[in-house]
Amino acid sequence: MLSNSIKMLNKAKNEKYAIPQFNINNLEWAKYILEISQNLKSPVILGVSENAIKYIGGYNTVVNMIKGLIKDLNITVPVSLHLDHGKSVQSCINAINAGFTSVMIDGSKFSLNENINMTNEVIKYAKEYNVSVEAEIENIDDNYDNNSYSKLQDIIEFINKTDINSFAPSIGNAHGIYKNEPKLELNLLKQINENVDIPLVLHGGSGIDDEQIKKVIKLGISKININTQLQVEWSKQVRIFLNKNKNVYDPKEIINSGKDAIQKRVMEYIILFGSNNKY
Ligand code: 13P
Repeated sequence: MLSNSIKMLNKAKNEKYAIPQFNINNLEWAKYILEISQNLKSPVILGVSENAIKYIGGYNTVVNMIKGLIKDLNITVPVSLHLDHGKSVQSCINAINAGFTSVMIDGSKFSLNENINMTNEVIKYAKEYNVSVEAEIENIDDNYDNNSYSKLQDIIEFINKTDINSFAPSIGNAHGIYKNEPKLELNLLKQINENVDIPLVLHGGSGIDDEQIKKVIKLGISKININTQLQVEWSKQVRIFLNKNKNVYDPKEIINSGKDAIQKRVMEYIILFGSNNKY
């Protein structure tokens, strides 16, 4: 069944493991991830960006597709369907109306005050529907070379003035393929964790080495977002398959040729994050 992410994230925070958020790009992605999460008894968050939502068909299509998969595949682990980086209040409202159980309001391009106001608007609406809300204040870069870090005082002010369920700090992480080896600011994370009560989220999880992942989980990260790594590994496998099988034209075979690559990586992440056997 779909649920919000409050209970799963709080349990992860208390027991020091991290819930994976795997971003989905299509039906197959969702199916592969749900199957492995069920096999490993791991709660899971399926993240969908505004772009991916548009690609798949719209908010309602995504919700009904995921509900259908949960039913037909007999998925019993907790699954949260999350709008990743909702860029406007309206986008979050659209997701909630369609049946998403979790949203991120990303007001990081706005001033702290504007971000607080936007976030509070989303929270007010989300509470009526029992939907969880994640937010960030400092833009987590898309230029693959993150130089922006959240300021502790701003984070404390933001969390005191909103009632968010989880917070995504900027600690040297970035989305996409890192240009240089990422070095996370663990001291900053430690300070944030000492001053903040709610679960913390690491965006840009692809490309961060296992040792740093283990350290950030100890320092309060309770959710880790992964997208790029699954795309890279799926496309690599599909390219090999197409080069070897010049006469195949069935899209089912072509898309599915990347299945094992995705499922292997999802399994490795779940075990690294420690979310297996939690339900
Ligand atoms: P990556 O694509 O770098 O894994 O980041 C995913 C993410 O943070 C989605 O919000």
